[in-house]
Amino acid sequence: MAQTSLGEYERDSMSNIGPSIIAKLNRRLFAQPNHPLSIVKTHIHAYFQPLSFALFDHFDPVVSVKQNFDDLCFPPDHPGRRPSDSYFINNHTLLRTHMTANEGEFLRAGHRSFLIAGDVYRRDQIDATHYPVFHQLEGVRVFRDDEIHESNKEGESPFTQHAIKYDHESQPAFNQAALRTVTDSLYHTLNGLMRHLFGPDVPIRWQTCYFPFTCPSFEIEVFYRGRWVEVCGSGVLQQSILQENGLRERNAWAFGLGLERLAMILFDIPDIRLFWSEDERFLSQFRAGQINTRFQPFSKYPACWRDLSFWIGDGAEFDEMGLYDLIREHGQDLVEDVQLVSESHECLCFYYL
Ligand code: PHE
Repeated sequence: MAQTSLGEYERDSMSNIGPSIIAKLNRRLFAQPNHPLSIVKTHIHAYFQPLSFALFDHFDPVVSVKQNFDDLCFPPDHPGRRPSDSYFINNHTLLRTHMTANEGEFLRAGHRSFLIAGDVYRRDQIDATHYPVFHQLEGVRVFRDDEIHESNKEGESPFTQHAIKYDHESQPAFNQAALRTVTDSLYHTLNGLMRHLFGPDVPIRWQTCYFPFTCPSFEIEVFYRGRWVEVCGSGVLQQSILQENGLRERNAWAFGLGLERLAMILFDIPDIRLFWSEDERFLSQFRAGQINTRFQPFSKYPACWRDLSFWIGDGAEFDEMGLYDLIREHGQDLVEDVQLVSESHECLCFYYL
């Protein structure tokens, strides 16, 4: 498979991609089936497969400004278009900030129910839940005209009725029956997905929000460790996007999930940087197909071994706990483990991590 290389692109005053981001371009974490992000991705696909959704990994994150913003109705002054927020190769080209940038190519290729997974890039703060590279899974479902039902209030969720109240901000050309059918389907499909991922008891909530390419738009939040965490953006696709991509059909929903967020909740992984770890103490904890793994913390520093051996003078007493205190005083919390590995009457060997 072709590697992503930025060498072929011209640089200009917008270019702002440094070596640490370039180093991530070809890591392709999804190529590792036992990686927690692959496990979550596959588990989501298992939910969508009976609904006839095809899954595609999209490994090349380079897109045009047109694909990432213009074609998706981003206003000219949207902050995402600035080099302070996104990674630009040059004035026309950037590392995609979301998987929605690749929707058009799949619609034009004739797909009508599909999932696309890939790496996305945003300039962001440094902390345990943010990282400048993360992974999204995008889902799209296009409706045939004969799938749109005339208003059937009984089949509607209370959520759809609520969403329809946002009619004034809905797409002008939208017919009410279509808006109801699509919103209802989105609501039930994603609620089912959340139960598939987290079980029936995890509290989730829906909020209306804004995305330039969907209207109405919604966010799903999951209650985790005492706070609401946003895990999914979604909405009814702007009809102009379907038209621009040459579709005869007018109605579709789309959603985008942050896979790191989901994996952190599912596996109890406390720090987003761990997903990039090549440390066996992380990677060996996860197995393809196993969704119930609970991450066991280990030192976040790379293992560093020290061997110690002592000669003990004739008749001298060795104070083992005294040695541990001494090591703790010098190494503080960096020292994870100290073990006695061999003993003879004149030699003691320890190692510590
Ligand atoms: N692209 C949005 C994001 O990155 C998520 C989204 C996808 C929202 C599809 C609506 C529809 O946050």
